[in-house]
Amino acid sequence: MPVRALVVDPSAPEAVRAADVPDPVPGPGQVLVDVSHVSLNRGDLNDARSGRIPAGAVLGSDAAGVVVRAAADGTGPTAGTRVVALTGGAFAERIAVDAAALAEVPAELDPARAAALPVAGVAALRSLRAAGLAPGKRVLVTGASGGVGRYAVQLAARAGAHVIASVGSAPRREGLARAGADEVLIGLEGLHRPVDIVIDGVGGPQLVAAWNLLAPGGSLQSVGWASGESAVFPPYATVGPAKSLTSFVIDGAAGADLAVLAGLAAEGALTVDIGWQGTWDRFEEAATALRDRRINGKAVLTPAPQP
Ligand SMILES: NC(=O)c1ccc[n+]([C@@H]2O[C@H](COP(=O)([O-])OP(=O)(O)OC[C@H]3O[C@@H](n4cnc5c(N)ncnc54)[C@H](OP(=O)(O)O)[C@@H]3O)[C@@H](O)[C@H]2O)c1
Repeated sequence: MPVRALVVDPSAPEAVRAADVPDPVPGPGQVLVDVSHVSLNRGDLNDARSGRIPAGAVLGSDAAGVVVRAAADGTGPTAGTRVVALTGGAFAERIAVDAAALAEVPAELDPARAAALPVAGVAALRSLRAAGLAPGKRVLVTGASGGVGRYAVQLAARAGAHVIASVGSAPRREGLARAGADEVLIGLEGLHRPVDIVIDGVGGPQLVAAWNLLAPGGSLQSVGWASGESAVFPPYATVGPAKSLTSFVIDGAAGADLAVLAGLAAEGALTVDIGWQGTWDRFEEAATALRDRRINGKAVLTPAPQP
């Protein structure tokens, strides 16, 4: 039986349309999951247009649902377990997922919030870890109103860092002080003291400005480039006491980190802000809102009923 999915179609608005795809056939180390919720990432919108995901292939990376068949090799959760996964081709009613790419969803966490964790949460967790997050460090998070940003602010604050959240406009400050930001700035206005860590999801001139604020020994993690603007470094900007600008990408199975994030969310130590929720026949609406920077936090979609 085919399953409904959102697939890449370069001729469609937002380069995505609903379609029937073949029922997935799991490999020996994969479980079959019936998907109840998915979340949309800015990267999905880029993937749909860039050709990185071929036409006709299923889009998406973030899904939550219930295991309907355990892995044949005995790894991973049993049938009936609620799970969250970070996996390619997530936007389908049923998916085959590597057992190492998912985590069990604790009873206290609802599936919509679980689905909002994978890409944004794992990017925040791993980039902070790579930057050497520690108590007392001054951490600047750009694009703090977005998916990665909101998680990065909370995780850094939880670790005892001094967190500076940067947003694009006053309305986008909403909820960030409550999330643990010690300072919430529009752009980098008023920030003069050096920072030890930058988690940057914006790129462009703001990345250059953030680099200039980075203290010797500091780490700037270039996680994303939501601005789409070029970054021009003035002469000698990269000459001086050692500090690093590191490229970042989520690499390798995310199951262990998903378990950490789901555990924190379940115990109320990590708030999952869902700024848009609806069925995936409203994909265009969600994509436009995300692109237009009108979603505070994450967009979560549920499979639409069969036509
Ligand atoms: N490397 C990886 O593995 C990885 C993983 C996850 C995400 N990413 C990338 O990281 C970036 C952030 O991802 P996300 O999921 O947090 O995205 P998001 O939810 O859309 O948030 C992006 C934030 O960037 C800010 N921004 C500043 N200038 C912008 C502009 N010109 N256009 C749009 N947004 C602008 C917006 O904040 P204001 O509205 O307050 O300005 C927005 O909240 C994206 O580039 C994404 O592709 C990479």
